[in-house]
Amino acid sequence: MAIRLGDIAPTFSAETTDGVIDFHDWKSGSWAVLFSHPADFTPVCTTELGRTAALKGEFDKRGVKAIAVSVDPIEDHRSWAKDIGEVGGTELNFPIIADPDRTVSHLYDMLHPGEGDTSTVRSVFIIDPSDKVRLTLTYPKSVGRNFDEIVRVIDALQVTDLAPIATPADWKPGSKVIVAPTVSTEDARARFGDVEEIKPYLRWTPAPTA
Ligand code: BEZ
Repeated sequence: MAIRLGDIAPTFSAETTDGVIDFHDWKSGSWAVLFSHPADFTPVCTTELGRTAALKGEFDKRGVKAIAVSVDPIEDHRSWAKDIGEVGGTELNFPIIADPDRTVSHLYDMLHPGEGDTSTVRSVFIIDPSDKVRLTLTYPKSVGRNFDEIVRVIDALQVTDLAPIATPADWKPGSKVIVAPTVSTEDARARFGDVEEIKPYLRWTPAPTA
């Protein structure tokens, strides 16, 4: 069954390049980005996993752990890891799940038969510290993901958890946010101080800080 926003991310036990893990134990109260890739030793996937390794500092700052999955066996993951470091310039610094029996791929609905074969499409799940699924993305095999967008969404989720606010189109950290429609302008001014009303339903305020 498809996983929906607000669901508890299912846990699983799996072999990874960092040893056997139980997903919830491994996550252990952090944010997580769980993402699938179609196959090892393929060009787009090599750039995606290299980019994820290079972003470790950004993920660490935000309390996020990354973990990848594909249906290839652990031996392939281990030998492909060397290419990822060589091509991307950063050693692999997060686990890759080996899912040859497709347990995790089925659990997270990452196999889309209409996409041609039995390997996973490019799924992304952003999961919060309470194990709730906060974002899902599904990309075709031919299109590499934008990892700046994944970091941007994590920033947006973390800021909108602080107050009754939402982020506008193309929001970037540091720019203004939108007061939630559930809050009156009067209450918003009492709470946030600086509130600019463009329409009764569109009110800007500076982003709160943690
Ligand atoms: C790739 O990662 O390059 C790739 C994998 C499967 C299909 C197409 C591209």
